[in-house]
Amino acid sequence: MSKQRDQWSSSLGFILAAAGSAVGLGNLWKFPYITWENHGGGFVLVYLVCIAVIGMPIMMAEILIGRRAQASPVPALEKMSKGLPGGKWWSVVGWMGVIAGLVILSFYAVVAGWSISSFINCINWSLNGFDGGQDFGGFVGNGPLQVGLAFVFSTVTAFIVMGGISGGIEKATKVLMPVLLGILVLLVLNSFTLDGASQALAFLFTPSAINSHGLLEALGHSFFTLSLGMGAMITYGSYMGRHDSIVKSSIAIVLLDTLIAIMACIIMFSILFTFPQVRDSMGKSTAGMLFVTLPQMFYTGMPAGKIFAPIFYVLVGFAALSSTISLLEVVVSLLVDKLEWTRIKSTSVAASTIFVFSTFCALSNGAVDFFSGLKPFGQATEGFLFKLNETFFANKAGFMNLFDHMASNWFLPVGGMLITLFVGWILPSRISAEELDLLDENGNPNKFFQVLLFSLRFLAPLAIGYIIMMVILGRDFS
Ligand code: TRP
Repeated sequence: MSKQRDQWSSSLGFILAAAGSAVGLGNLWKFPYITWENHGGGFVLVYLVCIAVIGMPIMMAEILIGRRAQASPVPALEKMSKGLPGGKWWSVVGWMGVIAGLVILSFYAVVAGWSISSFINCINWSLNGFDGGQDFGGFVGNGPLQVGLAFVFSTVTAFIVMGGISGGIEKATKVLMPVLLGILVLLVLNSFTLDGASQALAFLFTPSAINSHGLLEALGHSFFTLSLGMGAMITYGSYMGRHDSIVKSSIAIVLLDTLIAIMACIIMFSILFTFPQVRDSMGKSTAGMLFVTLPQMFYTGMPAGKIFAPIFYVLVGFAALSSTISLLEVVVSLLVDKLEWTRIKSTSVAASTIFVFSTFCALSNGAVDFFSGLKPFGQATEGFLFKLNETFFANKAGFMNLFDHMASNWFLPVGGMLITLFVGWILPSRISAEELDLLDENGNPNKFFQVLLFSLRFLAPLAIGYIIMMVILGRDFS
């Protein structure tokens, strides 16, 4: 810890690395499929409000803690809370974050592995002709294959994290993010030529009914997609230069992330509304949308799709990689700072522990019945235990679904709540305003800061609290 801390080489470097963490499978894989499952418009609206009112201020709060303390989440919160109410207890946010990181990475690596296999399929289809797409159920039910793909992805992540921050992560994201954005723009333009495009836009932007689980899912996803609520942005902020603007960077990251998520939906829903057979073949589970739906457009609805298809899945893999790196980095930086292990030892221990859980996730989509059908409170279809499954897990089954649900819908919102309470109520606002560079000419917090503080003190905690209450009460909204 005594060494000079590694740093991003420029403000743009930070923005792209943080955007690299934010933009990932959350945008390309998860957002389209949960939006589909939650019937579009109403869900999107709640999501956008959560991003603007809760996500953006919390992102600024996390980055400011990290940069001020120049440390990973646990020591950062210990340092910042010294002498303040609650004191060291606030570092529980950091510990929770490590558990959330472990849980998220476990299932994320499995889905990231799917991008490798899609890439290989596309090479084959581009060379030998499209055969109608893969049998997704059979693919995810193939245990050894699933474990193998997750293993490859986890190993690559671990090697990069061993190598440190500024060299690898920053250099790679600087090239990959712009290319990814460019290809997505092309795909959106192409999807506008499909017959289903207008239906897709209507589905996305016409408000629809939403239930309390949908509400929590929109909230949880706004944390997930921005990498908030578990200290990832505290960690990345700790490598940020003193003179870079936290406010401007956060706005850029949030806009980029939201833009990419919406574009992914436009692309995928246009295909689904154009080709009914794709919708039917997807069946009940829409989780494979990114990997099942999109090839249809590449090979039947897009000029030069043959060329774009394999490139696109390489980019999906890289978008996932810049996110898995940030997740593993949170766990590793804690081990380095707290136990004073070397980077190599910390990474090896963290990555292998996480891989054990990845294996359970990999086997839970049909390969092994025990993992696939698992419900935390048992299989009862009524009564108290059923009620517990329903309230806390939306009655979902399977190791991977449960891990996803637990992390996104509970850990991240609760972590975000603690961070917003800490920066809103505990940390002196002079410190936050100074770190955010939001002081007026007399050295007092300016108007923009007042708005931000209002959100951190009232809007964000009340909204998170309200949504959690509604889930516990089991409400529906229309
Ligand atoms: N934001 C990433 C995505 O949308 C996932 C991710 C990376 C993440 N780091 C995180 C989620 C930290 C929560 C916390 O794919």
